[in-house]
Amino acid sequence: MTVVTRPIEPRDLADIQAELHTHWHSTEIWSLGRLHHADRLPGFVAEVNGAFAGLVTVNMDAGAWQCEVITLSSRSVVRGIGTALLDAAESHARTAGCRRIYLTTTNDNCHAIRFYQRRGWRFAALHKGIVDRVRELVPDLPLLGHDGIQVRDEIEFERWFIDDAPVR
Ligand SMILES: CC(C)(COP(=O)(O)OP(=O)(O)OC[C@H]1O[C@@H](n2cnc3c(N)ncnc32)[C@H](O)[C@@H]1OP(=O)(O)O)[C@@H](O)C(=O)NCCC(=O)NCCS
Repeated sequence: MTVVTRPIEPRDLADIQAELHTHWHSTEIWSLGRLHHADRLPGFVAEVNGAFAGLVTVNMDAGAWQCEVITLSSRSVVRGIGTALLDAAESHARTAGCRRIYLTTTNDNCHAIRFYQRRGWRFAALHKGIVDRVRELVPDLPLLGHDGIQVRDEIEFERWFIDDAPVR
């Protein structure tokens, strides 16, 4: 079974909303203290045998010198969906002329922390307590995350592009 990625289209909206609710319980995603309506963002979907299998959403920063991955998720029906989606986001950023692509994941998400490092992404910053501060505005944000770990911080990962090639 082959994984195909393509840009998000209007017909994907229901799948996208369902996917965001599955992993984040909302289409409203907080990152670095900023609220994103992730179902309105550009990005890519993955398909396996023509069926929706994953989603990456991205947000171009002002000036377009860097791009943030806001969500990445996979239905993991076959191996490689998350990797293919991350590759699509990186290509998108590079083609758009970005110097840098970055993302954050929460401190409890050990699988994602491993996943990004395995794919050459580097730690860029620890945003200590940023989820606690957002939770003061959005009390619905769950306190407990993966493995019963308290969700309090965001860890920022990055890749830089130099001469059109990602820095490894
Ligand atoms: C993180 C995530 C996007 C990865 O997607 P994925 O489709 O599983 O990614 P891949 O299949 O490309 O690779 C995942 C790893 O699991 C392995 N894997 C995937 N399916 C597997 C299977 N059935 N059996 C054994 N290993 C498997 C891959 O080999 C790979 O391992 P590696 O890092 O050692 O190479 C996915 O786990 C996910 O949706 N998580 C929930 C949402 C989330 O936390 N997103 C990240 C925070 S924004």
